[in-house]
Amino acid sequence: MITKPKGMYDLLDIDAKLYQYIQNTITTYMENYNYDFIRTPIMESSELFHRTVGEETDLVTKETYDFVDRGNRNMTLRPEGTAGVVRSLIENKLYGNHNETIKYYYLGTMYRYERPQLGRNRELTQFGVEVFNSDDFMSDVEVISLGANVLKDLGIENFTIHINSLGDKESRDNYTKALKNYLKPNIDKLCPDCQARFNKNPLRILDCKVDKNSDILKNVPKINDYLNEESKFRFNKITEMLTMLDIDYELDFNLVRGLDYYDYTVWEYLTDEEGLALGGGGRYNGLVKSLGGPDMPAIGFGIGIDRVILELKKKLEGHELKKNIDAYIMCVNEEEKIHALKIAQDLRLNNIMTEVNSNNLSFKSQFKVADNLNAKFIIILNSEDLAKGLINVKDNATKEEMKIDENELTDWIMGNI
Ligand code: HAM
Repeated sequence: MITKPKGMYDLLDIDAKLYQYIQNTITTYMENYNYDFIRTPIMESSELFHRTVGEETDLVTKETYDFVDRGNRNMTLRPEGTAGVVRSLIENKLYGNHNETIKYYYLGTMYRYERPQLGRNRELTQFGVEVFNSDDFMSDVEVISLGANVLKDLGIENFTIHINSLGDKESRDNYTKALKNYLKPNIDKLCPDCQARFNKNPLRILDCKVDKNSDILKNVPKINDYLNEESKFRFNKITEMLTMLDIDYELDFNLVRGLDYYDYTVWEYLTDEEGLALGGGGRYNGLVKSLGGPDMPAIGFGIGIDRVILELKKKLEGHELKKNIDAYIMCVNEEEKIHALKIAQDLRLNNIMTEVNSNNLSFKSQFKVADNLNAKFIIILNSEDLAKGLINVKDNATKEEMKIDENELTDWIMGNI
């Protein structure tokens, strides 16, 4: 038997239903918030991720699916969505006349060669938003609260926004100096990766999965103490505004995020029990320019849909997601089948959720299927009544049966569901 690739899974049953529910909720949300949908390729040149996510990040050094295509190009399956959207913004000049805020959202699969475990897959789906051309605190607040509001609306309550500021370059340089001074005497006690990061990109040491809980990392200097006035002012404005909008958050001065492109605000939506990141994001004001685009501020987040599904399933435990269709059509012989198809098409074209017996089930089995589907009405075709232009309809709740003129059936059902 050929099996699925390790760390990947088929979206089935309740997971598939929840996925569709999430997708629908997101689509409505994004319309209300005035975001445009964007889809970028599932693979990009490897260089794109090296230059955006960062050469020294775990994501690029250990987790990408890299390959050489038949034209000898170095390609990478996208491990995240921001890089592709920024590439597209520049390549397609989506920034237009630079006057407006540009807002995109996406929903798609990403690929990370990680050690699979609950909530950590090699194929994952992210819902992400990317907002360009606004450096105002209003965009930070809109994007942070949007993520929280979507999660809450989906039915997830047990999470907290952890938020921090990485400040501007000056603040980060000052902090990096302090961090290196602090780590220097103990660097040989950290893992070989961290020792390599010490000179190349010391901030990455803070999200090392190996040393994360060591005393050395627990007591590192806090970036908040190194923010300059401007960076501090911005951050305070954002947190004040979040409070005014009744969006709860927790200051988390150790939060640096695992990707290199961030500056100023960074945040994560963490579950309260396991501290699992349902999503995370941040501002990345320097990225568009560094990839050859205009000097354009940006901010965004990615939410892991697989993890959202896990959380929703916990809430549903013990409850079944039942189907609830409007009408089930029973038929047996050739003549009834022809009528069944016609009626089904007519009902479906009028937005009536309809199923029809299409596998020659016995009369008894058809009733069972109608029950399993929670059909509100059962349409029981029989040749005798059809000859008179009549259709038997049974209300499956009251068990009441009636005969309806075939020409009036759709209107009747529409008026009674
Ligand atoms: P990220 O924190 O790397 O950020 O990923 C965002 C979310 O994707 C995570 O919080 C998590 O829920 C989910 N996720 C990541 N890896 C896995 C995995 N192996 N299995 C299941 N879920 C996973 C980004 O990707 C940034 N592009 C977010 C962003 C957008 N920042 C600015 N704009």
